[in-house]
Amino acid sequence: MRELLADVFTLYIKTKNFHWHMTGRHFRDYHLLLDEQGEQIFAMTDDIAERARKLGGPTIKSISDISAHQSLKDNNNEFVPPNEMLTELRDDNQQLTRFLRSAHEVCDKYNDVATASLIENWIDETERRTWFLREIELGQ
Ligand SMILES: [Fe+2]
Repeated sequence: MRELLADVFTLYIKTKNFHWHMTGRHFRDYHLLLDEQGEQIFAMTDDIAERARKLGGPTIKSISDISAHQSLKDNNNEFVPPNEMLTELRDDNQQLTRFLRSAHEVCDKYNDVATASLIENWIDETERRTWFLREIELGQ
């Protein structure tokens, strides 16, 4: 759960980063979309952390703790073209779905139905974000 939480924080910050640094003729649409997605991702963090505590596990304690446990990559580039932002977020969301699916397999193994049920919702939300990002990309 801690690795998952680190990746969700990473994706949250990247989504906000691209929300703030968006450019181009679709600025308003993309800026607003990434704001919506950012809020949804941020809402996941508390649920994951509290679920981890209910299971007696550790959560993330700091920014350095995030960097120690994240698998998704940061993007510290000065400029990222809008289409690259969307592609990168789509790939990260797809990767997050894979992480969520493997966490679900662990839940199945231990018959942890409550965590599995939360994860199913997060997969649905993550696939929805991926869908929106993919459709915009295809339309470009
Ligand atoms: Fe904003």
